[in-house]
Amino acid sequence: MIVLAVLAQVCLPPSWSQNPPNARELLSKMTLEEKVAQLSQLPGFPIPEFKEQVGISPEDVVRRYGAGSVLWVPDTKEINRWQHIAVEESRLHIPILFGLDVIHGYHTIFPAPIAMASSWDPKMVEGAQSVAAREARAAGIQWTFAPMVDIARDARWGRMVEGGGEDPYLGAAMARAQVLGFQGSDLTAPDRVLACMKHFAGYGAADGGRDYDSSYIPEELMWNVYLKPFKAAVDAGVGSAMSAYMDLNDVPASGNHWLMHDVLREAWGFEGFVVSDANAVHSLIIHGYARDGDDAAYKAFSSGLNMDMASGTYLKYLAAEVQQGRISMRQIDDAVLPVLETKIKLGLFEHPYVDEARLQQVENAPESVQMTRTAAQRSVVLLRNEHNLLPLDKSGKEIKSVAVIGPMADATNDLLGLWGSMTKPGPTVTILQGIKDKVGAAAKVQYAHGPNLRRDIPSFFEDVSMVTVKEQPKQTGEESRKAIEDAVSAAKMSDVAVVVLGEIALMSGEAASRSSLKLSSGQEELLEAVTATGKPVVLVLVNGRPLDISWASEHVGAILEAWYPGSQGGNGVADVLFGDANPGGHLPVSWPRSSGQLPLYYNHNRTHQPEDAPDFQSRYWDISSFPLYPFGYGISYTSFSFDNLKVSQAQAKVGSNVEVSVAVANTGSRAGDTVVQLYTHQRAGSASRPVRELKGFQRTNLAAGARQTVHFVLGPEELQFWSPTKKAWVVEPEHFDVWVGGDSTAKLHAEFQLTP
Ligand code: NOJ
Repeated sequence: MIVLAVLAQVCLPPSWSQNPPNARELLSKMTLEEKVAQLSQLPGFPIPEFKEQVGISPEDVVRRYGAGSVLWVPDTKEINRWQHIAVEESRLHIPILFGLDVIHGYHTIFPAPIAMASSWDPKMVEGAQSVAAREARAAGIQWTFAPMVDIARDARWGRMVEGGGEDPYLGAAMARAQVLGFQGSDLTAPDRVLACMKHFAGYGAADGGRDYDSSYIPEELMWNVYLKPFKAAVDAGVGSAMSAYMDLNDVPASGNHWLMHDVLREAWGFEGFVVSDANAVHSLIIHGYARDGDDAAYKAFSSGLNMDMASGTYLKYLAAEVQQGRISMRQIDDAVLPVLETKIKLGLFEHPYVDEARLQQVENAPESVQMTRTAAQRSVVLLRNEHNLLPLDKSGKEIKSVAVIGPMADATNDLLGLWGSMTKPGPTVTILQGIKDKVGAAAKVQYAHGPNLRRDIPSFFEDVSMVTVKEQPKQTGEESRKAIEDAVSAAKMSDVAVVVLGEIALMSGEAASRSSLKLSSGQEELLEAVTATGKPVVLVLVNGRPLDISWASEHVGAILEAWYPGSQGGNGVADVLFGDANPGGHLPVSWPRSSGQLPLYYNHNRTHQPEDAPDFQSRYWDISSFPLYPFGYGISYTSFSFDNLKVSQAQAKVGSNVEVSVAVANTGSRAGDTVVQLYTHQRAGSASRPVRELKGFQRTNLAAGARQTVHFVLGPEELQFWSPTKKAWVVEPEHFDVWVGGDSTAKLHAEFQLTP
């Protein structure tokens, strides 16, 4: 009996089920090494360098000390195996928090974040991320490395696809919606995951759009633009943050005290924890910021970085920093506490294991599938529609044959974007399939692939085992010419050509920056040759960033931006092409004419030679200074007009609210959505202010002929800015312009004066 009792004590975990621990009490029982292990996230996949660095394997770390987190274990069985080690074999039986990049879906993949931002529909985005959370949680993932809320003003940067675009106000709305979608209002509720806002901060301003390159961002731009979506995520209760890879103003973000301490904790009162980006603590040495491992651990930790993602630097050096007195035990405790508290909130102590059968019940839920189809419909942006070429007739009366052309038309996982392809994506409906299903027997559909799409320099993601997308096979010049000829023949034999071009998933995302935005790999030639047949051409773009479609914008009948539209992308796009859904998405970025215009953003300052001056021509002598399509742009199968713009007071005191109302009417013959957008401009003050700034929006559905009044409130939150001369947030007694309309060039104008 005694032997059995001893065995039970050694082998069986204590039952946390009745009594989840008190975090402080648990902390008081932990050794320094166990605390450091809670500040470490271990790779859940083999990295030989980890063992070389730390001396023992990640699994043995868990056995001996436990672990804060393990990342990239997408398999439920594997998750349980790791968890058994932590809960049954480690001394204190503290469960592991499993993290993964569930960016826009786990099994049911929603449109990529830039696409969802194009919906201007935060409620829809929140719903999408709540599905992602439910599926991830059922798979045993309790922590997602999302939302990515980096502002991106340069389409060369590959990671534009992962965020909400160029604008801080829209970006903040998307950040808030995603945090609420993942976490809900209460992290203890079932089916929720811990969100992680990233990449803190300034990653989107990488020099030249080159991924990982340094960012130089003045403080006023940090506060007024780049930090805004992060602040919104914090206000929505985000529980964790990820520090970025790059140098910000010469101090790497993962060792940046100003970011992690002054801004995040002091100014914003963030109470969660910060994890580094992968290997970023070790990379402080590579940046030339830390001398060695000791220094890297010290600099990252003392700047406010709680958890080291996968580099093992904390495991190897942090305890010694405490023993040598450079870091106090109190600081260590303060860093561990939010990690333990998060695990308690997530219910991990009571329920450390995942029910391996549950995922199957959760994934492919019909309502989730319907939601992602709706999300795809609502995210696409109609850029051009000459002579109402769209919607196409699906009855077989006008169109008896459709040529579907292009290397993205039969894309499966490439329709999901890179992250979407990496979790456990379910079935994907291709655009080709979506069109075939839509027309059924009413029209003949013929497919021609066109030339294959390849990067010139391969992506390292191709070698990552979880990545399910590949480059398309290499072709000879002869083969790609033949592919174009086949496409031209298909177009000639058809009543309409739907040409689906863009970027395979490996062309956007991390380490996927590009110097040119041109349609690559012979796609421009393909498009021009198909258009030369004289058949009506609809261009559908599947991509992660605006591309150079200057030629298409003058010669192709209709252009529909679908981004990476997700698992139901094919159906969603076909719904729009054939009029079962009316496009209502609007651009979350200014669409450049060519990469030479980058960085490009609508909310720039006014110059001494402003664009709206009567004699203004262009800042360039070879190209217009204006974008091809402005920020906020998107057209519909119906039309809208705006009038009756009113501000509640011509004069209002600083600190009070100004109400703005506008009437919007559907002037066309079918129901549709527009996004009513409100922009302001402060005419003078302690600093120059942008020509326009988005300060309100509302996606509005109107029946044909219907009219509605939309209301906005401009309060101190909307009218304040961080002034570089005052070094403070200010609302100034100045004159303000207001414009309302369907994009950032809106003409309908009003004004008001703030008084002291
Ligand atoms: C590196 C990426 O920059 C980051 O976004 C991601 O969350 C981590 N790797 C983990 O996969």
